[in-house]
Order: sequence, then structure tokens, then C-alpha cells
Amino acid sequence: MSLKRNILDLRRRKKEAQQGGGEAAIGKQVAMGKKTARERIKAILDENSFHEYDLFVEHTGKDFDMEKKVLHGDGVIIGTGTMYNQPVCIYAQDFTVAGGSLGLMHARKITKIMDHALKMRVPIIGINDSGGARIQEGVNSLAGYGEIFYRNTEASGVIPQLSVILGPCAGGAVYSPALTDFVFVVENISKMFITGPGVIKTVLGEEISMEELGGALVHSEITGNAHFYALSEDDCFEQIKKLISYIPWNNTQKALRFPTQAPNFSVSIEDIVPSDPHYPYDIRDIIKAVSDSSDFFEIMELFARNIVIGFGRIAGNTVGFVANQPMYLAGVLDCDSSDKAARFIRYCDAFNIPIVTLEDMPGYLPGVDQEHAGVIRHGAKLLYAYSEATVPKVTVIIRKAYGGGYIAMNSRHLGADFVYAWPTAEIAVMGPEGAANIVFRKEIDEAENPAEMRKQKVQEYKDKFANPFVAASKGYIDEVIEPLETRARLIHSLEISEHKVDKRPAKKHGIPPF
Ligand code: HXC
Repeated sequence: MSLKRNILDLRRRKKEAQQGGGEAAIGKQVAMGKKTARERIKAILDENSFHEYDLFVEHTGKDFDMEKKVLHGDGVIIGTGTMYNQPVCIYAQDFTVAGGSLGLMHARKITKIMDHALKMRVPIIGINDSGGARIQEGVNSLAGYGEIFYRNTEASGVIPQLSVILGPCAGGAVYSPALTDFVFVVENISKMFITGPGVIKTVLGEEISMEELGGALVHSEITGNAHFYALSEDDCFEQIKKLISYIPWNNTQKALRFPTQAPNFSVSIEDIVPSDPHYPYDIRDIIKAVSDSSDFFEIMELFARNIVIGFGRIAGNTVGFVANQPMYLAGVLDCDSSDKAARFIRYCDAFNIPIVTLEDMPGYLPGVDQEHAGVIRHGAKLLYAYSEATVPKVTVIIRKAYGGGYIAMNSRHLGADFVYAWPTAEIAVMGPEGAANIVFRKEIDEAENPAEMRKQKVQEYKDKFANPFVAASKGYIDEVIEPLETRARLIHSLEISEHKVDKRPAKKHGIPPF
């Protein structure tokens, strides 16, 4: 064959291999509002940057007439490309080919690109759209999942791992995303569950739709498995690009630096917090008031709303914000909010992202539900994560800092580098009402007018403790600042901390209260 014929033959083979599961299956995919696997990859990467590998890989299934089946690319596309002109690795399962099910060669393609990403120290993006373990390939499919999970764990904390759920994600398929750093879901398209509606009906006799069982909203609001919720695939791809702009390419680097931009939030930082401490406000307004361009990229926006986490930039550099949200449950700490914040703090710490904590919370949520749900164990995760983190850590106490929450929210005692308090800060073992009831119970009970005595004692307690000056007098707070000084203090603290060294005792790893 002449070179020209060889080239024509190659082109024909490529075209055939790239056709996925054929017109009917692709038509079904499109009718559901889904893009094809190739379209998805192209939509995420820089234009014309994608290079595909293992296009001609064939499956090795032999049972159940599998040898007669041609599965193009074995149901998954792998390759490399760029985002912001920097290299990334990517794979996308192709549901049009055997339901994107995972057989031996499908898994090998994924583990090949995962190995590549880890060796090259670049992010890996996995697009999941799969019926799970390929039933006909038996234990080989299970082996394939195991090898993926192993690599997810090995890469954890070294390179960013993003999972995009763009279809069903059933059985073993859900555990790779659960091991990665960020999970993206899309309304009506994403479904995640261990056992599907069919199994539930057989075993429990209960009818439930896939959407109710494990749709995008379920995982964004209830389970906390998803970090980013989008209304369409295009919306989701924009979110992925935005996230990538905030994070470093691996754990030895810092995130991309952008020019400093002043905040442009419409409300002055002095006018955000109501003068009555019983009134709520949106803590995100304070984040916006101190961030470059007032741009805040929130993570897990719909889950455990009593705490807010996400990325912003201060003087051009990425920071991770952790902030109590007085608008929900007065910003209390509970099991879910502790989990949510602790994991994010560990992410920031692994990837050299300074943490800015904004504090306004009345403590841990009391009650049997929380105690029995394990608030001791879950709350401890937050203590562990802050104490363990060696990246620059700055805290601003805006208003309430009571009890265990005061300690947990990146206090000086857990290793904060800088702790600031607004003059509105209230730092004490518990809220004035609760404290007065316990400490002055006898005086209140014995008083002629107990209600009046109680009021008086609450005021006495407030005057003594519900301010930042007692903590400042002990050096637990570095400076009581005016709200308008907040951004300048954050900029200075982060500049000073740029070359922070915080050496801890050598160990294999700690035992966090998982
Ligand atoms: C082989 C599969 C498959 C699978 C789907 N297909 N899932 N083939 N193994 N796991 C094939 C179908 O046979 C069909 O092939 C094509 O993909 C499209 O599937 P449909 O069922 O027509 O699509 P749809 O109606 O959209 O339903 C999608 C679905 C359903 C909800 C995902 O296919 C489904 O329930 N699949 C099984 C899900 C599941 O229980 N997986 C868990 C596996 S066990 P044709 O040729 O007809 O087009 C597991 C354990 C691993 O994962 C544990 C590791 C720790």
C-alpha cells in the first residue's frame, strides 16, 4: 500500500471507530438533552486541543455472545488536552456503546489515563455516563473498578480529580466519583445510586423513580455527594472551567495568579451586619465585600447551608473561604456542616490554598437528633482539619463566637496565623441567655421579680463577656479591627504568610475521625 492509501485507510478506520454506538443510540442520547461523549470533551477543553488515545482498543468479553459484538472504543474515550493552555487528562464514558458499561478494556483505558495524569502531575477530569459493571464480563468488571478506586486514592491530594456525572452512574460506578475531589451534576441528567429502583422494588417492594432516588438535586441538597449543581450540560462545563481557574495543577504548585481587582460589591461592608445581633444576614455579602471583583465561587451551595465554603481571590491569589451562614439555623455547626467544611479545609491544605475563616455562630446545634447522628465524631472532623492544616490560616470573628464553635472555627488555639475580630464580636463559653440561666440560677429563682433579675444578669454577662476585648486582653485575638479594614488586613496577612513554614512531627498519617 502506498502512503496515501495507508493514510486513507487510517482515516476510514478512525471515522468508523469514532462513530460510537450508532445513529439510534446517539439519537436517544440527544433526545434526553445529553451531548455525546466527544462533544462533552470538546466543550470542556481549549478549542482543538484534544488528543485521543486507545481509539482502536477492543473489548475482550467472550461470554454471552460478546465476541460477536463490536464496541467502538469499548465505550470510553480517553485523552489529553489543555485548559487555560495548561495540560489536563480526561476521559468520557460513551453511553451509546453498551450503556457505557465498564468491562476489562474499558477500565484499562481509564486507568491508563489516570496513571498518565498522576505521572505528569496534571488534573484528571472523568465524565461518567454508565450502567456500571459490564454484566457479561463478570469479575473482570469488578477488578476494573477496584483498579480505578486504587488510583483515585493514590492520586488524592496530589492532582485535582474532577468527576462529572452526565447520565446514570450505577453500582460500583459511584465510588470513583465519591473518591474524587469535586463532583458535578446536572438537573434531569445525573443519577447516582448503589442499588437502582429495580433492586429496591425486588428487595424492599418499594417503587421509586431514579430521580427521587439519586437525581441531581438529591445529591446536591440531601446526601452531599455532589459539589456543583447545574441546570444544563453547558452550564456544568462553565462551572468546571471556573473551578479549574481557582485551583493549582498539582500539590507542588500554587493556583494561577490573576491581576488584583478591587471588590465591586454594591453594599458597604459596614452596612451588611444588622445592629441587632438576633437578626440574620447573608455571610456571602461579606465574602464579596472583601474578594477581588466581589467574585465568589461557592461549593456545595445547596447542602448544609449553615456553613458556606468556596473559592475567591484576594489580591489576585486564590483563597478558600469557610464562613458560618447566619441566614440558616443561625449558622450553627452540626454534623453536615462540620463534614462539609472539614473536607474543604483538607482540600485547601493539600493544594496550597490559604484559608480565610469568617465566624458568626452560636455554637454546636443542641438536641438528641444531632447527638445520635454523631455530632461528637463529625464535629471532631472540623477540629482535626483546621489543626492539621499548615497553609496560611486567617480568621475574622464578625459577631458570635460561642463555646466549642469558637475553638473549632480556626481559633488561635488550633493554629490560626492571624485572628481578627470586629468590635461587634461576642466571644464566650455560651450565649448570654443560656449562661445567665446556669450561673445565676439561684439569684434568679430567689429574686422577687425573677424576670427582671434574669434580664439584669443577662446584661451583666453581656457587658463582661459578649465583646472581643476579653479575648484580645489574653492575646487570643491579634487585633480588633473596623469592618472597613478587613480586606486590607487579609491582604497583609496573606502576604506575610506567603512563605509560611509549619513543620509537624513525621508520621505515616494521622487517624482523622472519618
Ligand atoms: C452491560 C449494560 C449495562 C451493564 C446497561 N447496559 N447497563 N450492559 N452491563 N451494567 C446496556 C443495555 O443492555 C443496553 O444495551 C444499553 O446498555 C442501554 O441500556 P438501556 O437499559 O436500554 O438504557 P436505559 O433505559 O437508559 O437505562 C439505563 C440504566 C439501565 C438505568 C443504567 O441500563 C440499568 O439499570 N443498567 C444496570 C445498572 C446496574 O444495576 N448496574 C450495576 C452493575 S453491578 P443494548 O444492547 O440493548 O443497547 C456494579 C457493581 C460493581 O456496578 C461494584 C464495584 C465495587
